[in-house]
Amino acid sequence: MRIDVLTTLPEMFRGPLDESILLRARQSGQVEIRLVNLRDYTHDRHKKTDDEQFGGGDGMVMKAEPILEALDALSADSPGPCEILFTSPQGERFDHAMAMQLSRVGHLVIVCGHYKGIDERAIQLSGGREVSIGDYILTGGELPAMVVIDAVVRLLPGVVGSYASVEEDSFYQGLLDCPRYTRPQEVRGVNVPEVLLSGHHAEIEKWRRQQAEERTRLRRPDLWEAFLRRRHAEREP
Ligand SMILES: C[S@@+](CC[C@H](N)C(=O)[O-])C[C@H]1O[C@@H](n2cnc3c(N)ncnc32)[C@H](O)[C@@H]1O
Repeated sequence: MRIDVLTTLPEMFRGPLDESILLRARQSGQVEIRLVNLRDYTHDRHKKTDDEQFGGGDGMVMKAEPILEALDALSADSPGPCEILFTSPQGERFDHAMAMQLSRVGHLVIVCGHYKGIDERAIQLSGGREVSIGDYILTGGELPAMVVIDAVVRLLPGVVGSYASVEEDSFYQGLLDCPRYTRPQEVRGVNVPEVLLSGHHAEIEKWRRQQAEERTRLRRPDLWEAFLRRRHAEREP
């Protein structure tokens, strides 16, 4: 998979892309991530990527042309069809289903906004999709881009050692994960549930499943309802 990130702050990505699973995925060639500096697509002396708003008001707006020029250059050099994402609090909410869908895209381009946002024409003319990571406002699109990259890359086959472990995590099967424990057996008087020490794999699986269902029902009634609806539909003849 290839991911291009259009940003005015490429240095922000250095830490997250250079550690742990993302670093290994890049080193093994499972993902190629390129940081494209939008200033390289400006034509003025000051390399301006933003300007004042038409209509007046506080805050600058990111200019359309550097973004469109960068997108043109990337699509000319694309290994195949690409999907363009604009980070925006007004976009579709990013979730597990979207991460799964994006993990099947060969070439992803993520545009990071700043200030008051991006000139609407960049979104309109590129045919990109606006994506939000939640109902709150961040200062820029770099952190949302990193969230999307991390969630998508870990779903690529082979990136996390065991895919079975990915499938057990919250949301994959429409449920939250069960509680997890490690050594020591007792911490400040609290013991690990007995069944986990039994060595009885079928009983352990049953307990984990019950815990996952109970947690989902209590903590996320929305997910639980959707899970029950899906299970019911699957059981219908
Ligand atoms: C200060 S925000 C602009 C907010 C915009 N005026 C609005 O109210 O919708 C600057 C940039 O940060 C990014 N951003 C902020 N919050 C975000 C979120 N929740 N999800 C995705 N991107 C976000 C976007 O790229 C956005 O253009």
